[in-house]
Amino acid sequence: MSAQPIPDHVPTDRVVDFNVFAPPGGEQDFFAAWKSLLGGPGLVWTTENGGHWIGACGEVVRSLWGDAERFSNEALAVTPGLGEVMEFIPLQQDPPEHKPFRMAVMKGFANNHVVAMEPLVREQARLLIEGLMGKGGCEFMSQFAEILPIHIFLTLIGVPPEDRAKLRPLGQQLTRPDGSMTVVELRDAADAYLEPYIRERLANPGSDLFSRILSVPIEGRAWTFDEAQRMCRNLLFGGLDTVVAMMGNMIMHLARHPDDQEYLREDASRIPAAVDELMRRYPTVSVTRNCVETTEVDGVEVREGDLIYLPSVLHNLDPACFDDPEKVDFDRGLSPVRHTTMGVGPHRCVGAGLARLEAIVLLEEWLARVPHFSLAEDVQPTFRGGNVGSLLQLELRWAE
Ligand code: HEM
Repeated sequence: MSAQPIPDHVPTDRVVDFNVFAPPGGEQDFFAAWKSLLGGPGLVWTTENGGHWIGACGEVVRSLWGDAERFSNEALAVTPGLGEVMEFIPLQQDPPEHKPFRMAVMKGFANNHVVAMEPLVREQARLLIEGLMGKGGCEFMSQFAEILPIHIFLTLIGVPPEDRAKLRPLGQQLTRPDGSMTVVELRDAADAYLEPYIRERLANPGSDLFSRILSVPIEGRAWTFDEAQRMCRNLLFGGLDTVVAMMGNMIMHLARHPDDQEYLREDASRIPAAVDELMRRYPTVSVTRNCVETTEVDGVEVREGDLIYLPSVLHNLDPACFDDPEKVDFDRGLSPVRHTTMGVGPHRCVGAGLARLEAIVLLEEWLARVPHFSLAEDVQPTFRGGNVGSLLQLELRWAE
């Protein structure tokens, strides 16, 4: 979409030349590209992508993110029309409508269920790693990161292994969109894949994730098929590329920092704390809110209807919010709710426990099986921007 005129209420000294989907230099380093906005005003306006605000300091990002009264989740993204197409439950609902749906989803992700997933996650991770051994290296994103979360998701919802191949091409479009499908086509393909499972789970609930969630009544009544579909769609779109991106960043960090690799190899009990710190250091998700009541933020007027883009990277890497934020310090000991990698407020990620488990198992299994690894000297990592910024390519090498 071409650049839009600057609206009257936007002071010209707040206007920046910044496309959130292609931050300058973002292909080489997603994090550095975003960081270029820190140090100026805490709220800026870009004319790109239809024209919208960007929360440009940690304080603004975190406070608006959690403020569901003034800033609604309905729009979903600055991408025009995306919210109307997806209609995610619970992500695009505002309180109080949001609460009963979220409660049901939270019950499905209760800690005992997540803990019970561990042997399955471990088995899948081991199988994939074993397939990479003897090769002296791999392209981590396509040969590992993009595969494991799909297998785990399908195990969670009880899809038999032989059906998995059907989701692989769709999963690739979700995590690595090549422009060959519109968002409507993507949604329709996801719905078509999920529909038989949703109908079956509504009629004959089992013990899988969809069944557990759909068997929790919504204010005393059953879920409608439409609501069930929007919820299952939310889980599918929310739980794949986020995990892919997280895994890529963690392995990239360890490939670049042999000392950190050795530190974790020496004592695997250090891995859970390391995962929490790596999640803080490499946040990937940006959310969009729409202002529902004209208000003042960072000394400027934000009008009802304005869209505000909130990148977690500008909270987690803001030195005003975290000491020496770019440093990975496994002893930082911060609670995972201090940073915004998983969001903050009523929409904080329901899959956070599962994602953390996946990351811990990844590092345990990878470090136990793969010898010392580093980045390939001749191929640099490349990133893509977007609502979930992710590595596209991560070539690793190791000596067998
Ligand atoms: C590292 C991996 C992940 C990251 C970084 C991540 C990040 C986030 C963030 C930032 C939000 C808040 C969105 C907002 O405030 O608008 C969110 C919400 C959500 N996430 Fe995750 N997520 C991850 C994994 C998962 C997984 C594995 C699932 C499920 C399979 C999942 C499902 C959801 C759902 C359903 C919501 C909406 C919650 C609500 O609206 O109440 N996420 N996630």
